[in-house]
Amino acid sequence: MKLNDISKQLSSSLEARMLLKHVAGLSDADLIGSNEIDLSPQQQSRLDGFIEERLQGRPISKIIGMKEFYGRDFIVSDDVLDPRPDSEILIEAVLKHVSSSNKLGSDIAILDLGTGSGCLILTLLVELPNADGVGTDISDKAMAIANKNAEKHGLTGRAQFIKSDWFENVTGQFDVILSNPPYIETDVIPLLDKSVRAFDPILALDGGADGLLPYKMILPQVKWSLKPGGMIAMEHGHDQCGRIKRLIEKEGFDQIRAHQDLGGKDRVLTAIHT
Ligand SMILES: C[S@@+](CC[C@H](N)C(=O)[O-])C[C@H]1O[C@@H](n2cnc3c(N)ncnc32)[C@H](O)[C@@H]1O
Repeated sequence: MKLNDISKQLSSSLEARMLLKHVAGLSDADLIGSNEIDLSPQQQSRLDGFIEERLQGRPISKIIGMKEFYGRDFIVSDDVLDPRPDSEILIEAVLKHVSSSNKLGSDIAILDLGTGSGCLILTLLVELPNADGVGTDISDKAMAIANKNAEKHGLTGRAQFIKSDWFENVTGQFDVILSNPPYIETDVIPLLDKSVRAFDPILALDGGADGLLPYKMILPQVKWSLKPGGMIAMEHGHDQCGRIKRLIEKEGFDQIRAHQDLGGKDRVLTAIHT
């Protein structure tokens, strides 16, 4: 099978390489310098199926079952949100806080509400080797993926996943609580790009009529589980910063800070429980 032929069908040489690697079980190195790969009839038929799925709009990550986040690969499926580059700002904000509060190397406890694939909590556990983490989700299927990712990254002993409607089954006190909750307004979901609305789970998208329902449920409960001096970090939609900041202020947090994405848009709010 010629790489150029697949590239032409998909209008993307990167995606062609990803599909070919996946189907033939090859590494990047295997593909260097080779433009033509011999496929078995079964591999060819799988590849044809994948190309068709891609042409129907299915994201490449959902086809190959893998998405990169913060430089590492995470298993994904139709049951979890594809990790997004925007969420790397949450990681940076937490790491900055841990470093500036002289807690690098300390035994810290992190809670991730709405963990999905587990990409946030697991990334933090790799970056902070002395930290332990709990990830919660209301979806059993998402937590099965999060557990697979914990295994993939050698973190099963340090990451625990529990089924919980936000704080319902959470016990203990944490140094950091983070969340990337669903924040799309219900009426806007049908207008989203097909790659999102048709392939990411509705549970990961729907933030209720005003998109703020999860924040209104989570924020009043944070202080019960956050140690004094601990940080809450929440991702939000590009136009929600002001409204969520007011919700955080209402709960009496200090040092509320907005963090911007690469395009300069507010994407994450952090605050300290004093
Ligand atoms: C936007 S996704 C974020 C997934 C992952 N943390 C990430 O950043 O890629 C939101 C997640 O919240 C979960 N969720 C939705 N409602 C929930 C609830 N009431 N309690 C706990 N988790 C919930 C969804 O199943 C989904 O996995």
